[in-house]
Amino acid sequence: MKAVGGSSEFHEWSRLAISLLEQQIPPDEILWADESPQPLLPGLTEGIREVVPSKVQAAILPAAFAAAARPVLAHRDSAKWPLLYRVFWRLHHETANLLHIASDEDVCQLRRFEQQVRHDTYRMTQFVRFRRVQGLEDERFIAWHRPDHNVLRMAAPFFVKRFARMRWSIITPLSSAHWDREALTFSAGLPREQSPTSDELEELWRIYYAAICNPARINPKAMSAQMPGRFWTVLPEAAEIGPLLTQARGRVSTMIRDQRDQSSAALFVPPEGDLSLLESASRSCQGCELHVAATQTVFGQGTPNARVMLVGEQPGDEEDRRGVPFVGPAGTLLDQALNEAGLDRQALYVTNAVKHFRFTPVGRARRHQTPRPSHITACRPWLEAELRLVQPDLIVCLGATAARTLLGYAVSVTERRGKLLSTEWARGLLITIHPAAILRGTDAAHREKLYRTLVADLMLIAHVLPMPRE
Ligand code: URA
Repeated sequence: MKAVGGSSEFHEWSRLAISLLEQQIPPDEILWADESPQPLLPGLTEGIREVVPSKVQAAILPAAFAAAARPVLAHRDSAKWPLLYRVFWRLHHETANLLHIASDEDVCQLRRFEQQVRHDTYRMTQFVRFRRVQGLEDERFIAWHRPDHNVLRMAAPFFVKRFARMRWSIITPLSSAHWDREALTFSAGLPREQSPTSDELEELWRIYYAAICNPARINPKAMSAQMPGRFWTVLPEAAEIGPLLTQARGRVSTMIRDQRDQSSAALFVPPEGDLSLLESASRSCQGCELHVAATQTVFGQGTPNARVMLVGEQPGDEEDRRGVPFVGPAGTLLDQALNEAGLDRQALYVTNAVKHFRFTPVGRARRHQTPRPSHITACRPWLEAELRLVQPDLIVCLGATAARTLLGYAVSVTERRGKLLSTEWARGLLITIHPAAILRGTDAAHREKLYRTLVADLMLIAHVLPMPRE
């Protein structure tokens, strides 16, 4: 057994991992210890060859793995060390495709760690509040924040961009970042007592927040889900939320009426971040009025870099309750057709043009209503963000709403289905029948005919994807 001390510095860690791999040391022969001032514990130091040139690193460390490893290195759980090396080892010794196997236990854990760190980074960008401190020579803004993971290095570039002209420091218990308008430096962390607690900036924040606050966008449930209680104590504007909520209901209905025709999700879509961040931001979307009656946002689901993206219309009753696309009767039929066409849903990305359920109550039931063009337009920023991140080679539109959303004009599914069309979002776009249309077929023979058409169209996917992903 070799004892090795991990390093959260990507370059150090990658050198170490490559060196271990080159020496053919299998994961179960390594005993990982947490980071220490000396990166490698005695016992292995002699065996490790130094500096591997970066070109070699790039060849050995696949880009997709490196992109996942960077955030995972910031995770606080020391299970990350054996996990990262195990995945790295398996990428070389089992399959280079490992990261695409969404059901693999190691891959699941890697993605979970990655997501948790990205969320934490996002939360830092949202919940850090600076307080002004007048020094002898200059003015400085200081913030104290307690992230769950060691995400300061990942979040710091956001603050550099946002507050480029201020001198600031962000202090966390693990490390601190300092910006002097030219250079970003890091030092050790500090306990909270050493960060200033109040000053006039706090009051300014309150006034500013009350002025800009849009009560329709305050969603207390989503806020407490996203913002652990400990952050509230450092947010000066938290005191304003209660009174603003009291007036909120009346203002919200007026705003809904006023904004119906100019609504858009654009304000709710984070400018950057991965799919999980997008998904979590979408939960608070109030970009159109559909969010009022729907249970929740139903965001897309599937492999983040899938080659094929299926786009439906909007969630149905079951999807609305469970928060997952295509899990109701239409979803069951879709799964059956995908199976018959030899496609694995796990390898695809499945989403909808509109992310909230539109319905009319009929007694205790909820009857599906086709979304209006204004709903499609309002929701489009989410779909575009999903397309930008997934970058599919092929988009498959299930039915007329999806086709209209992606093409920008109404088409007849019967006329245009089963042909490869062009789109700015992928190498090709295919239109096929929506599974719900099959369920509405007039009789068994009609339904069977429509179902066969759907399967045949889905079978085309394999034919139009001859080229490996670039
Ligand atoms: N119909 C759709 O278009 N999408 C779903 O998620 C479910 C039914």
